[in-house]
Amino acid sequence: MLFLDKSTRTRNAFEAGMTQLGGHAHYLDAEKTQVAHGESPKDMGIILARYGHGIAIRHDLVPGEGNAYMRAVAEWADVPVINLQCDVDHPTQTLADLQTLREQRGEDLRGLRVAVSWAYAPSYAKPLSVPQGLLTLLPRFGIDVVLAHPPGFDLMPDVVKRAQEAAAAGGGTIAFTDDMDTAFEGADVVYPKSWGRLDLFTDERAALADAARYTDWICDERRMGLAKPDSLYMHCLPADRGTEVTDAVIDGPHSVVYDEAENRLHTGKAIMALTMSGPARDA
Ligand code: CP
Repeated sequence: MLFLDKSTRTRNAFEAGMTQLGGHAHYLDAEKTQVAHGESPKDMGIILARYGHGIAIRHDLVPGEGNAYMRAVAEWADVPVINLQCDVDHPTQTLADLQTLREQRGEDLRGLRVAVSWAYAPSYAKPLSVPQGLLTLLPRFGIDVVLAHPPGFDLMPDVVKRAQEAAAAGGGTIAFTDDMDTAFEGADVVYPKSWGRLDLFTDERAALADAARYTDWICDERRMGLAKPDSLYMHCLPADRGTEVTDAVIDGPHSVVYDEAENRLHTGKAIMALTMSGPARDA
C-alpha cells in the first residue's frame, strides 16, 4: 500500500482487512521511499508486484497526476492495482457508501434522491474524487443525484460526461444547482462535503480564500429540515466540524457516518478477496 497522502480510514481498513483475510499489507509512506526521489511508476509496478499479490495506491492531491500514475504502475505490474483514491475517483469509498445505502434503504435504490453538495472547509483543498465517484457510481443503480456547488467549484468535465453516460445506461439521473438549499429539498440522502477549485490546486492559499466566500455552505439542522424527515446524513470523513457540518447533525439521528466508515473495512476485504490471489489459491 503506497500512500502519497495522509489517511485514517483507508489505510486502517485495508491493513486490518488484509490481516483478517490472513495476509499482510505493507504500509509504504511514499515520502520514505524512492518515489520521493522520482523513481518511475514502471519500476514500482514491476518490483512491488514481485514482493506481493497486489498493489494499492493513494495519489489524490494533484489533478491530472494520481490516476495517470496508477495506470502507469498497472501497465507494468502483473498483479491487481487497487485505487485507494486518486484525483479522479475514490472507488473504495463510494463502494462503502453504496453498501451503507443498501443497508439503510434496501437493495433496490431506484428513485432515491441523493444530494451531493459542496460544503465549506478551511482545513485544506480536498480532492474532487469523492463527489466525482458518487456522480459516476450512484446513478448506475437508478439513483437520482443532485450536485450542488458554488460557481467555480465544477467537477472535471470529462468525468461529468462519463457520469452522464453511465446514468443514462443505469436509469438514474444527474441534475445540477448552485444552491445548497435547492439540493437538500426533498432529498432522501444528503452528502455535503468540501472540495477544492480545479483551477486553484497549485495555489492552496488562493483556493482557501476563495472557498471562504461561501462559509454559509454548511450542513446544519435548518438545512436537514429541508430534506425528507427520515433522510440520511453521509460523509466520507474526515469532516471539518463546525464548518462543513454542525455537531448537531453529524452526531444527530440522521447521521450514518460511523457505519459508512466501518463499511470501508467490509468492502475493502471484498475487493481484495475478489481481485487478489494468494499462495493458498495459487497452490
Ligand atoms: N474517507 C477516507 O478516505 O478517509 P481517509 O482519508 O482517512 O483514508
